[in-house]
Amino acid sequence: MRPSSRLDRIPPYLFAELERKIAVKRAAGIDVISLGIGDPDTPTYPSIVAAAERAVADPGTHGYPSNRGRAEFRGAVADFYQRRFGVTLDPETEVMPAIGAKECIFNLNLAFLDQGDVALAADPGYPVYTGGPLLVGAEPVLMALRADAGFAPDLEAIPPSVRERARLMFFNYPNNPTGAVVPDGLFEKIVDLARAHEILAVHDNAYSETTFDGYVAPSFLATAGAKEVGVEVFSLSKGYSMTGWRCAAIVGNADAIAQYWRLKSNIDSGLFDAIQLAGAAALAPETDDQVKAMNAVYKRRRDLVCEALADAGVNVTPPRATIYIWAPVPPGYASAAAYCEHVLERAAVVISPGGAYGPNGEGFFRISLTTPDDRLLEAVKRLRALSS
Ligand SMILES: Cc1ncc(COP(=O)(O)O)c(C=O)c1O
Repeated sequence: MRPSSRLDRIPPYLFAELERKIAVKRAAGIDVISLGIGDPDTPTYPSIVAAAERAVADPGTHGYPSNRGRAEFRGAVADFYQRRFGVTLDPETEVMPAIGAKECIFNLNLAFLDQGDVALAADPGYPVYTGGPLLVGAEPVLMALRADAGFAPDLEAIPPSVRERARLMFFNYPNNPTGAVVPDGLFEKIVDLARAHEILAVHDNAYSETTFDGYVAPSFLATAGAKEVGVEVFSLSKGYSMTGWRCAAIVGNADAIAQYWRLKSNIDSGLFDAIQLAGAAALAPETDDQVKAMNAVYKRRRDLVCEALADAGVNVTPPRATIYIWAPVPPGYASAAAYCEHVLERAAVVISPGGAYGPNGEGFFRISLTTPDDRLLEAVKRLRALSS
């Protein structure tokens, strides 16, 4: 069997490789603590599960879903965007369900890129921003996010020839992997660039609900002119502990959503109606308290990890959002991957090497806070013992 040549264009998916390594160690009886993947350890909130149970029991959800989505889901997303972000959306044309943000982000590449086109991708960034364009025969061009610039890309540095070929731009705040929140004025600059060069701006909004210290994350669509040039992919995975449910929505520019729908009607048969109804329940105001309580848990873990790292001589600024700590690799290692390999071998702790998120992630590692406190403490203790 010969796989297509396009599969050779992409590196192995980071977490698939990590999962394999963990499995080998666990099979050998080693107590591995994974701080790698950002997959909440806590169950989906009870009110969402209860809504899903009711929806699954209703035969009206058992047929093929419509790719456009159920009115209840589209309406709930529109109401949430109004209440939460002050963004008005037409539920008929400006909201559509997605089978997780990952599906949506990948398929936008298929819908908008031809060979020779460019997708501008935040670096470091979620791997699909680069894997997607490569798989569809287009070219990802990296936009460096540097700590000294508040993890904002330098849009002026994008060469004119690249701007001309760019059809898509992927960016994400609050940011994975750096934990950064959107720098002042960046969304406005992105709107200007997208408008001037007919680029579809795709804001990946996977972490807006996980924030601390009073920070409230905005929607890109709240920026003047954003809806004319862009879409936002809103995921329920992290904020509602629903990673396994595959529930997300694309919102914003109606023409872009119509093209996404056109593509998807040839690829999949939509998001299970019962999950759409569970997603609608998640976005109701009654869930807000559960989100807040979860954020208190992540904040406690954030502080615990940042303090322990400081004790070990690694200084990090506690992030105001996301479920990640982004920390510099201690001196003496050839690369972030070499450090992470060392930590896995010597401490049986899985952390992610920054280089896996792009060349500008090199020199950093990422800790995910999606592990119970006692295991997180044990992991940090092991890291500290390694560095002493
Ligand atoms: C920035 C970012 N976008 C998208 C996703 C995937 O979201 P979903 O579970 O909705 O596919 C993740 C998951 O880690 C992420 O970090």
